[in-house]
Order: sequence, then structure tokens, then C-alpha cells
Amino acid sequence: MIFAANWKMNGNIKFLNSILAQIKQDIIPYLADNSKIIVCPPSVYLSQAKLICHNTSIEIGAQDCSSQENGAFTGEVSANMLSDVGSEWVILGHSERRQYHSENNDLLHKKMLLAKLAGLKVILCIGETHDQHANNKTKDILAEQLSIICESDLNNLEYIIAYEPIWAIGTGLTPKLEEIDEIHQFIKSFLFEKTRLKSKVQVLYGGSVNPENANQIKSLITVDGVLVGGASLSAEKFKQICM
Ligand code: 13P
Repeated sequence: MIFAANWKMNGNIKFLNSILAQIKQDIIPYLADNSKIIVCPPSVYLSQAKLICHNTSIEIGAQDCSSQENGAFTGEVSANMLSDVGSEWVILGHSERRQYHSENNDLLHKKMLLAKLAGLKVILCIGETHDQHANNKTKDILAEQLSIICESDLNNLEYIIAYEPIWAIGTGLTPKLEEIDEIHQFIKSFLFEKTRLKSKVQVLYGGSVNPENANQIKSLITVDGVLVGGASLSAEKFKQICM
């Protein structure tokens, strides 16, 4: 089971030092053998996070990368730079990026290619809006978002999928368990058929995961882990989710 913490634009050095110390001390020793933790802090804190997590099983991820390799792109951070400071993962296509930065498949394709070339593993986020969900369009939307993975130049990219219904992010709402199960199954079958995967892709669920609902969500056979936002900012809540 994968437990990924997306801190979004939260925290500071003090928070980072304290929560990573708690994850190392209170969670890692008790984590099931087949489980792992990926922590995704804001990019300015990646080096420090890597330093603290050195010699532990905690893996470090970034929350985004540039669609450009390098050059005059003020404020951007390249995939190579993320890898250089010790990131093993990068989240791409988060709905907050799609929404506030108009990220579409063309742009994400470039980012995924650069992530692959930099040796980063990708957590590709996909998800539908409330209206799309209400109008039974979820699978169409997800199929469209997943279609970039089928691009031939992304062969050999190491990736997992995070299914994050937009209407479930930060709202306290979650799909019914049967729905999560059905959608995860859909994602796995879609990618198995459309790509040259030898085994089914791992799919995380994200959107209002908390200590109260985590066990039920984790109990679904199609759920390979969770991508946690708000609750990952509390060591205690994150621990309860991971245990
Ligand atoms: P919340 O867990 O705060 O709903 O956020 C989910 C998310 O967006 C993780 O990427």
C-alpha cells in the first residue's frame, strides 16, 4: 500500500523538521512490509526533506515540474532539478494545476516526457468535476485524461495513477466505496488494454481521505494506496491513515 502525502502550499522549515521526525519515529517502524510512504513537500523544501529522510524508506516527491527542459523560464523548476535534489517522484496533472494553471494533455505530455528523461516516477492525477460526475461522464473524462499515457514516447515511464474526484478534494465528500472500486477497476483495465503494461497499474485514491474513512477505502482490492492532502499535515492523522 502506498501512502502519499501532498502537502500542497503548506508548511515551513519548522513544520517540515517536526512532521518528518514524527513520520520517521512513529510511522515508519510500524508500517506494513509491503507499504511505503511518499512525502511531497513544496519544491523549496525538497532538499531539506531529502536530507532528513536520508537512510530511511521515506521517498520524496515534488508537486509539479516545468514543461521546459531549462532556460529563460523565470520561476519554473525543471524535472532535472527535482531529480538533482533527491526527488524520486513528481505529481503531475493535479486538479489544482489543471484548474488554476490551465494544464491540459498537451502540456502534461511534455512534463511527463521530461520527468521520464530525468528519471522521475510520476503520480498522474485524474478526476472529474461534480457536474461531470452527476451527468455520468466520469469514465469519458478519465479516459481522455489517461490517453496521454498511451503516447509512444512515454513507453517505459514509471508511473502510478491517483484518482481524485475534484468534488471530493477538501470537501469532506467521497464517492461510495462501490464507485471507487468500479472506477479503479476501469482505470486498470483501460491502461492494461491500451498500453504495453505487463501488470496492472497501481491506482491511489485521493480526495478527503481521513482517519475515519481510510480503513474502508484501503480495504478495497482495487485500491493500491491513498494520496492525502489536508490530513497529511497532521502526523497523528497521517499515522492513523497509514496504520
Ligand atoms: P484532501 O485530502 O485535502 O481532500 O486533498 C486531496 C488531494 O488533492 C491530494 O492530492
